[in-house]
Amino acid sequence: MSEILTLIGERRSVRGPFDPERPVSMSDLTQILEAARWSPTAHNMQNFEILVIDDRNVLARLADISSPASEVFIRENFDQLSFSEEELRRKKVGILGTMFPAAWTTPGADFGEVARESGPSALGDTIKGSPTVLVVTYDARKRAPASEGDVLGFIGLGCAMENMWLVAQSLSIGCQIMSVFSGNAVEAQVKQILDIPERMKIAFAARMGYPVATAFKYVRVRRDVADFAHHNRYGARLDPND
Ligand SMILES: Cc1cc2nc3c(=O)[nH]c(=O)nc-3n(C[C@H](O)[C@H](O)[C@H](O)COP(=O)(O)O)c2cc1C
Repeated sequence: MSEILTLIGERRSVRGPFDPERPVSMSDLTQILEAARWSPTAHNMQNFEILVIDDRNVLARLADISSPASEVFIRENFDQLSFSEEELRRKKVGILGTMFPAAWTTPGADFGEVARESGPSALGDTIKGSPTVLVVTYDARKRAPASEGDVLGFIGLGCAMENMWLVAQSLSIGCQIMSVFSGNAVEAQVKQILDIPERMKIAFAARMGYPVATAFKYVRVRRDVADFAHHNRYGARLDPND
Protein backbone atom coordinates (compact mmCIF):
# COMPACT_ATOMS: atom_id res chain seq x y z
CA MET A 1 0.00 0.00 0.00
CA SER A 2 1.29 3.50 -0.73
CA GLU A 3 2.58 5.57 2.19
CA ILE A 4 -0.15 8.14 1.78
CA LEU A 5 -2.88 5.46 1.88
CA THR A 6 -1.31 3.96 5.00
CA LEU A 7 -1.34 7.38 6.67
CA ILE A 8 -4.96 7.97 5.61
CA GLY A 9 -5.93 4.61 7.11
CA GLU A 10 -4.10 5.32 10.36
CA ARG A 11 -5.65 8.77 10.92
CA ARG A 12 -8.24 8.47 13.63
CA SER A 13 -10.29 10.41 16.14
CA VAL A 14 -8.68 10.37 19.55
CA ARG A 15 -11.41 10.86 22.12
CA GLY A 16 -9.38 10.02 25.21
CA PRO A 17 -7.23 12.45 27.17
CA PHE A 18 -4.00 14.03 25.95
CA ASP A 19 -0.95 14.51 28.14
CA PRO A 20 -1.43 18.06 29.50
CA GLU A 21 2.29 18.29 30.27
CA ARG A 22 3.37 17.53 26.72
CA PRO A 23 2.78 20.53 24.48
CA VAL A 24 2.64 20.44 20.71
CA SER A 25 5.76 22.28 19.56
CA MET A 26 5.52 25.43 17.47
CA SER A 27 7.51 23.75 14.69
CA ASP A 28 4.98 20.88 14.54
CA LEU A 29 2.09 23.35 14.65
CA THR A 30 3.69 25.27 11.81
CA GLN A 31 3.77 22.10 9.71
CA ILE A 32 0.10 21.44 10.51
CA LEU A 33 -0.77 24.99 9.44
CA GLU A 34 1.35 24.59 6.32
CA ALA A 35 -0.91 21.65 5.47
CA ALA A 36 -3.95 23.94 5.79
CA ARG A 37 -2.17 26.52 3.64
CA TRP A 38 -1.93 24.11 0.71
CA SER A 39 -5.41 22.65 0.99
CA PRO A 40 -7.67 22.93 -2.02
CA THR A 41 -10.55 25.41 -1.60
CA ALA A 42 -13.31 26.42 -4.02
CA HIS A 43 -12.06 29.26 -6.25
CA ASN A 44 -8.83 29.16 -4.22
CA MET A 45 -10.69 31.27 -1.65
CA GLN A 46 -8.51 30.04 1.21
CA ASN A 47 -11.56 30.92 3.25
CA PHE A 48 -10.15 30.17 6.71
CA GLU A 49 -8.54 31.99 9.59
CA ILE A 50 -7.17 29.57 12.18
CA LEU A 51 -6.62 30.41 15.83
CA VAL A 52 -4.01 28.36 17.65
CA ILE A 53 -4.78 28.30 21.35
CA ASP A 54 -2.10 27.01 23.69
CA ASP A 55 -2.20 29.54 26.52
CA ARG A 56 -3.35 27.67 29.63
CA ASN A 57 -5.40 30.61 30.88
CA VAL A 58 -7.25 30.95 27.60
CA LEU A 59 -7.80 27.18 27.43
CA ALA A 60 -9.17 27.26 30.99
CA ARG A 61 -11.63 30.01 30.03
CA LEU A 62 -12.80 27.96 27.05
CA ALA A 63 -13.11 24.87 29.25
CA ASP A 64 -15.48 26.78 31.57
CA ILE A 65 -18.02 27.41 28.81
CA SER A 66 -21.10 25.30 29.30
CA SER A 67 -22.85 23.68 26.41
CA PRO A 68 -26.55 22.75 26.61
CA ALA A 69 -27.49 19.20 25.57
CA SER A 70 -29.36 19.42 22.26
CA GLU A 71 -32.54 17.40 21.76
CA VAL A 72 -32.00 17.43 18.00
CA PHE A 73 -28.46 16.09 18.40
CA ILE A 74 -29.53 13.35 20.81
CA ARG A 75 -32.42 12.25 18.54
CA GLU A 76 -30.51 12.30 15.26
CA ASN A 77 -27.47 10.72 16.90
CA PHE A 78 -29.67 7.90 18.21
CA ASP A 79 -30.98 7.18 14.70
CA GLN A 80 -27.45 6.43 13.50
CA LEU A 81 -26.08 4.45 16.43
CA SER A 82 -25.16 0.82 16.59
CA PHE A 83 -25.84 -0.92 19.87
CA SER A 84 -23.24 -3.64 19.70
CA GLU A 85 -19.84 -4.13 18.13
CA GLU A 86 -21.36 -6.87 15.99
CA GLU A 87 -24.07 -4.52 14.67
CA LEU A 88 -21.49 -1.83 13.91
CA ARG A 89 -19.27 -4.26 12.03
CA ARG A 90 -22.27 -5.43 10.00
CA LYS A 91 -23.52 -1.92 9.16
CA LYS A 92 -20.01 -0.59 8.51
CA VAL A 93 -21.18 3.03 9.06
CA GLY A 94 -21.80 5.14 12.14
CA ILE A 95 -20.52 4.82 15.64
CA LEU A 96 -21.10 2.75 18.75
CA GLY A 97 -23.74 3.82 21.27
CA THR A 98 -21.45 3.07 24.20
CA MET A 99 -19.63 6.32 23.43
CA PHE A 100 -22.64 8.26 24.76
CA PRO A 101 -24.47 8.51 28.10
CA ALA A 102 -26.87 5.58 28.59
CA ALA A 103 -29.90 7.91 28.66
CA TRP A 104 -29.04 9.05 25.12
CA THR A 105 -29.17 5.51 23.77
CA THR A 106 -32.41 4.21 25.25
CA PRO A 107 -34.91 3.16 22.56
CA GLY A 108 -38.28 4.91 22.88
CA ALA A 109 -36.98 7.60 25.25
CA ASP A 110 -38.43 11.11 25.16
CA PHE A 111 -35.32 12.89 23.94
CA GLY A 112 -36.68 16.32 24.85
CA GLU A 113 -36.84 15.17 28.46
CA VAL A 114 -33.46 13.43 28.20
CA ALA A 115 -31.90 16.70 26.93
CA ARG A 116 -33.45 18.72 29.75
CA GLU A 117 -32.37 16.20 32.36
CA SER A 118 -28.85 15.89 30.92
CA GLY A 119 -28.37 19.61 31.56
CA PRO A 120 -25.39 21.56 30.25
CA SER A 121 -21.90 20.10 30.17
CA ALA A 122 -18.65 22.03 30.38
CA LEU A 123 -16.54 22.32 27.25
CA GLY A 124 -13.72 21.16 29.49
CA ASP A 125 -15.23 17.64 29.34
CA THR A 126 -14.37 17.58 25.65
CA ILE A 127 -11.15 19.59 25.76
CA LYS A 128 -9.91 17.22 28.51
CA GLY A 129 -6.81 19.20 29.42
CA SER A 130 -5.50 19.28 25.84
CA PRO A 131 -2.41 21.44 25.42
CA THR A 132 -3.54 22.86 22.08
CA VAL A 133 -6.84 23.68 20.45
CA LEU A 134 -7.21 24.97 16.89
CA VAL A 135 -10.31 27.01 16.11
CA VAL A 136 -11.08 27.22 12.41
CA THR A 137 -13.16 30.23 11.35
CA TYR A 138 -14.50 31.61 8.06
CA ASP A 139 -15.97 34.89 6.91
CA ALA A 140 -19.75 34.41 6.79
CA ARG A 141 -20.18 37.37 4.39
CA LYS A 142 -18.31 35.58 1.60
CA ARG A 143 -19.13 32.48 -0.36
CA ALA A 144 -17.74 30.47 -3.23
CA PRO A 145 -19.16 32.07 -6.39
CA ALA A 146 -22.83 31.10 -6.89
CA SER A 147 -22.57 28.27 -4.38
CA GLU A 148 -25.94 27.92 -2.68
CA GLY A 149 -25.45 27.89 1.08
CA ASP A 150 -21.70 28.12 0.33
CA VAL A 151 -21.56 24.34 0.18
CA LEU A 152 -18.41 24.59 -1.94
CA GLY A 153 -16.83 26.92 0.63
CA PHE A 154 -17.54 24.40 3.39
CA ILE A 155 -16.04 21.57 1.36
CA GLY A 156 -12.84 23.64 1.25
CA LEU A 157 -12.88 23.95 5.04
CA GLY A 158 -13.20 20.15 5.18
CA CYS A 159 -10.14 19.84 2.95
CA ALA A 160 -8.19 22.06 5.39
CA MET A 161 -9.41 19.84 8.24
CA GLU A 162 -8.21 16.65 6.58
CA ASN A 163 -4.87 18.10 5.49
CA MET A 164 -4.10 19.27 9.03
CA TRP A 165 -5.31 16.00 10.53
CA LEU A 166 -3.11 13.92 8.24
CA VAL A 167 -0.01 15.95 9.02
CA ALA A 168 -0.80 15.75 12.75
CA GLN A 169 -1.13 11.97 12.37
CA SER A 170 2.21 11.80 10.54
CA LEU A 171 3.78 13.57 13.55
CA SER A 172 2.08 11.14 16.02
CA ILE A 173 -0.07 14.01 17.29
CA GLY A 174 -3.59 12.96 18.23
CA CYS A 175 -6.57 14.99 17.08
CA GLN A 176 -10.28 15.19 17.85
CA ILE A 177 -12.69 17.43 15.97
CA MET A 178 -14.99 19.34 18.30
CA SER A 179 -18.11 20.44 16.43
CA VAL A 180 -19.54 21.74 19.68
CA PHE A 181 -17.56 24.97 19.18
CA SER A 182 -19.77 25.95 16.24
CA GLY A 183 -23.12 25.53 18.03
CA ASN A 184 -24.75 28.95 18.48
CA ALA A 185 -24.64 29.24 22.28
CA VAL A 186 -21.06 28.02 22.57
CA GLU A 187 -19.82 29.91 19.51
CA ALA A 188 -20.88 33.29 20.92
CA GLN A 189 -18.89 32.72 24.10
CA VAL A 190 -15.82 31.36 22.28
CA LYS A 191 -15.87 34.39 19.97
CA GLN A 192 -15.96 36.71 22.93
CA ILE A 193 -13.05 35.02 24.73
CA LEU A 194 -10.91 34.89 21.58
CA ASP A 195 -11.85 38.38 20.24
CA ILE A 196 -13.19 36.84 17.03
CA PRO A 197 -14.91 39.57 14.96
CA GLU A 198 -18.67 39.44 14.46
CA ARG A 199 -18.41 38.63 10.73
CA MET A 200 -16.42 35.44 11.39
CA LYS A 201 -18.13 32.13 12.11
CA ILE A 202 -16.58 29.08 13.71
CA ALA A 203 -16.52 26.07 11.39
CA PHE A 204 -15.04 23.62 13.89
CA ALA A 205 -12.33 23.26 16.48
CA ALA A 206 -9.76 20.51 16.85
CA ARG A 207 -7.96 19.57 20.00
CA MET A 208 -4.48 18.21 19.55
CA GLY A 209 -1.90 16.57 21.76
CA TYR A 210 -0.17 13.35 22.65
CA PRO A 211 -2.67 10.65 23.64
CA VAL A 212 -2.41 9.08 27.07
CA ALA A 213 -2.78 5.30 26.87
CA THR A 214 -6.22 4.11 28.03
CA ALA A 215 -7.99 0.76 28.11
CA PHE A 216 -10.75 2.19 25.89
CA LYS A 217 -11.24 0.09 22.76
CA TYR A 218 -12.46 2.06 19.78
CA VAL A 219 -13.93 0.13 16.87
CA ARG A 220 -13.46 1.84 13.49
CA VAL A 221 -15.48 0.57 10.57
CA ARG A 222 -15.73 1.48 6.90
CA ARG A 223 -17.78 0.30 3.96
CA ASP A 224 -15.92 -1.58 1.26
CA VAL A 225 -15.18 0.25 -1.98
CA ALA A 226 -17.70 -1.97 -3.76
CA ASP A 227 -20.40 -0.71 -1.33
CA PHE A 228 -20.19 2.89 -2.55
CA ALA A 229 -18.48 2.89 -5.94
CA HIS A 230 -20.64 2.74 -9.06
CA HIS A 231 -19.32 1.91 -12.52
CA ASN A 232 -20.46 4.07 -15.44
CA ARG A 233 -24.00 4.36 -14.09
CA TYR A 234 -25.54 4.60 -10.65
CA GLY A 235 -26.34 1.15 -9.31
CA ALA A 236 -23.82 -0.72 -11.47
CA ARG A 237 -21.32 -1.99 -8.92
CA LEU A 238 -17.67 -1.39 -9.58
CA ASP A 239 -15.63 -4.53 -9.33
CA PRO A 240 -12.20 -3.53 -7.99
CA ASN A 241 -10.83 -6.81 -9.42
CA ASP A 242 -11.83 -5.96 -13.02
C1 LIG B 1 -17.26 17.58 9.88
C2 LIG B 1 -16.89 16.63 11.00
C3 LIG B 1 -17.34 16.86 12.28
C4 LIG B 1 -16.97 16.01 13.33
N1 LIG B 1 -17.35 16.31 14.61
C5 LIG B 1 -16.89 15.55 15.63
C6 LIG B 1 -17.16 15.88 16.98
O1 LIG B 1 -17.81 16.88 17.28
N2 LIG B 1 -16.68 15.07 17.96
C7 LIG B 1 -15.93 13.96 17.67
O2 LIG B 1 -15.51 13.26 18.58
N3 LIG B 1 -15.68 13.61 16.39
C8 LIG B 1 -16.12 14.38 15.37
N4 LIG B 1 -15.83 14.04 14.09
C9 LIG B 1 -15.06 12.81 13.81
C10 LIG B 1 -15.91 11.71 13.23
O3 LIG B 1 -16.88 11.27 14.14
C11 LIG B 1 -14.96 10.59 12.82
O4 LIG B 1 -14.08 11.07 11.85
C12 LIG B 1 -15.69 9.35 12.31
O5 LIG B 1 -16.49 8.77 13.31
C13 LIG B 1 -14.70 8.30 11.81
O6 LIG B 1 -13.80 7.93 12.85
P1 LIG B 1 -12.23 8.14 12.68
O7 LIG B 1 -11.96 9.63 12.65
O8 LIG B 1 -11.60 7.54 13.90
O9 LIG B 1 -11.81 7.50 11.42
C14 LIG B 1 -16.16 14.89 13.05
C15 LIG B 1 -15.71 14.66 11.75
C16 LIG B 1 -16.04 15.52 10.73
C17 LIG B 1 -15.48 15.28 9.35
